[in-house]
Amino acid sequence: IDPTLDLYVEIEKLKKEKNAVILAHYYQEPDIQDIADYIGDSLGLSQQAAKTDASMIVFAGVHFMAETAKILSPEKKVLLPDLKAGCSLSDSCPPVLFAKFKEKYPDHLVITYVNCSAELKALSDIVCTSSNAVQIVESLPKDQKIIFGPDKNLGKYVAKKTGRNLVLWNGACMVHEIFSRQRIIKLQERHPNAKFIAHPECEDAVLELADYAGSTTGLLKYTINSPATEFIVATESGIIHQMQKENPGKTFIPAPPDNSCACNDCPHMKRNTLEKLYLCMKNELPEITIPLDIIEKARIPIARMLDISA
Ligand code: 13P
Ligand code: SF4
Repeated sequence: IDPTLDLYVEIEKLKKEKNAVILAHYYQEPDIQDIADYIGDSLGLSQQAAKTDASMIVFAGVHFMAETAKILSPEKKVLLPDLKAGCSLSDSCPPVLFAKFKEKYPDHLVITYVNCSAELKALSDIVCTSSNAVQIVESLPKDQKIIFGPDKNLGKYVAKKTGRNLVLWNGACMVHEIFSRQRIIKLQERHPNAKFIAHPECEDAVLELADYAGSTTGLLKYTINSPATEFIVATESGIIHQMQKENPGKTFIPAPPDNSCACNDCPHMKRNTLEKLYLCMKNELPEITIPLDIIEKARIPIARMLDISA
């Protein structure tokens, strides 16, 4: 790339030229969030992908999110700046093994967290996100038997909130599993007025300490609506950019991980850069492609989720 190029200007030009929309997740680097047409949580992003009239969707997020956009808008070109932007949670649930697991529970309904591959969605009855998982489980009859995967932490959280007994797949997110309960308690002692907020992908022992748990959009809204001025935030650090923009004057402290060498960045989300975003729009590559039969099967559980959350 020519180092004299102003990538902000060039990306804006490409957006118009190609009738493209940039959808970004809150965990993207600040530059990408600032140039996006829409920033949101997984539910918001899929709702936008379903309704956009742009002809090209540039997905600044990870692979499963871009796949979901493609499933909802198969006639559109869906681009992902770096195809290697995966997800440890999605990787923790290979579809072949999940199909075998599912066979053991033939009378169970399968609810999968959106953080999974298109193939896994094709094996599911309903998809959910962290913002509607409780609502989706509660929309089902009380005696309905349910398998929930791939995130065991979100699964435990939903089971606790709904009082339902869920059969859980043993998967987890590498970013949300590293928070240290002990170090968070120490930090709370030093900041007695701070609210502790956490994503439900965190472990039970961490969620127990939370004043509020919710999706990234839920966490952001909480910081806006709360009279508190200090927050300890247990999720990927990218969200803090929006929290600071929306709440000038409030303080946000990233929750400490259990190992001082670790950080709260998702290595998958952070694979995308402004340079890669520019190149992918210019070259219209890498593009997300999914076999038609998988698109057709995976669309049904996603459409159910969107109907229930409408
Ligand atoms: P939400 O933005 O839907 O809360 O998802 C968080 C996440 O981990 C996405 O990878
Ligand atoms: Fe996956 Fe966790 Fe990264 Fe989200 S933060 S993309 S769940 S590894």
